[in-house]
Amino acid sequence: SDPDLVERARAARAALGDRAFVLGHHYQRDEVIDFADVTGDSFKLAQRAAARPEAEFVIFCGVHFMAESADILTTDAQQVVLPDMAAGCSMADMAEIGQVEEAWAVLEDAGIAGDTVPVTYMNSTAAIKAFTGRHGGTVCTSSNAQVALRWAFDKVGGVDGTGKVLFMPDQHLGRNTAVLQLGMSLDDCVVFDPRKPGGGLTAQELRDARMILWRGHCSVHGRFSERNVTDVRAKVPGVNVLVHPECKHEVVTAADLVGSTEFIIKTLDAAEPGSSWAIGTELNLVRRVAAAHPDKQVHYLDSTVCFCSTMNRIDLPHLVWAMESLLEGRVVNRIVVDADDAHWARVALDQMLALPG
Ligand code: 13P
Ligand code: SF4
Repeated sequence: SDPDLVERARAARAALGDRAFVLGHHYQRDEVIDFADVTGDSFKLAQRAAARPEAEFVIFCGVHFMAESADILTTDAQQVVLPDMAAGCSMADMAEIGQVEEAWAVLEDAGIAGDTVPVTYMNSTAAIKAFTGRHGGTVCTSSNAQVALRWAFDKVGGVDGTGKVLFMPDQHLGRNTAVLQLGMSLDDCVVFDPRKPGGGLTAQELRDARMILWRGHCSVHGRFSERNVTDVRAKVPGVNVLVHPECKHEVVTAADLVGSTEFIIKTLDAAEPGSSWAIGTELNLVRRVAAAHPDKQVHYLDSTVCFCSTMNRIDLPHLVWAMESLLEGRVVNRIVVDADDAHWARVALDQMLALPG
């Protein structure tokens, strides 16, 4: 990147000192990660968001729903800044609060709402986290989806009972976790399509289901295919295929290992020198992992899949602009969740943070 800009970034970061706390998600660009005080997956960043209560500003290098969660988890005096407001998430946009409320009414009409626990992926708006908190559910991330689902099913009679989970908004994480980790069958899962009346399901289909999966997906991970796995196995004998659980079920089933971004990093750290890996997740992270392990062969699962375009909105110019503005006394791009949503979203986030590790 531009050396002048790097210099300005260093100067601004030094001038802010302890007044700022910079968090960076693993999918951020290298030029941004260089300035992060803490890097992590979405779970670790939620755990650490409140770690520096004395910092006036939490600069969140990630996407909008993560910055909202940071605002909810930090003190009222702290101000959370997202360096580019266009850093959203197409998956989070696939579930709107009005649609979720309508879906709940459909479950009520089918007579199953009392037997259903909502579980929302971190990748959702604060309003949906608040809905989840109001209805006794929990937030989860890709690193604790299994424990979160077990906890939710335990509230309604256990994994082997008849209770249900409404899982939003990533159908793949929900299905992969229920089938591969909880031992449910694909037939236990139905997909609720918010664009269709009644979700496109009959009341009987809803009553028979155990996992009601919101029709949402990640546009980056959704592009990996089973074919990519077959191709890399043919090309690289002995390759270990490691994918994120936002990938489609057939991709995760064909892979050797599945886990969150933090799991992917730890797995490569522990891997044997000389071993070969094909990784199915966002490209900034895979490149960084490859650079950190020159003694291991690291391949990208599909060379045509690109970066997460919204994660990439946060670049050095935006970070410098945000930091220099704070130094000039202007709090730009502040993320504020309204008090009522923040209260109930915090209930669901705290429930996640209290789940057994
Ligand atoms: P994790 O950080 O939980 O691995 O999730 C990946 C992701 O898609 C974040 O947007
Ligand atoms: Fe959203 Fe997917 Fe990008 Fe994560 S990688 S922020 S889920 S679009």
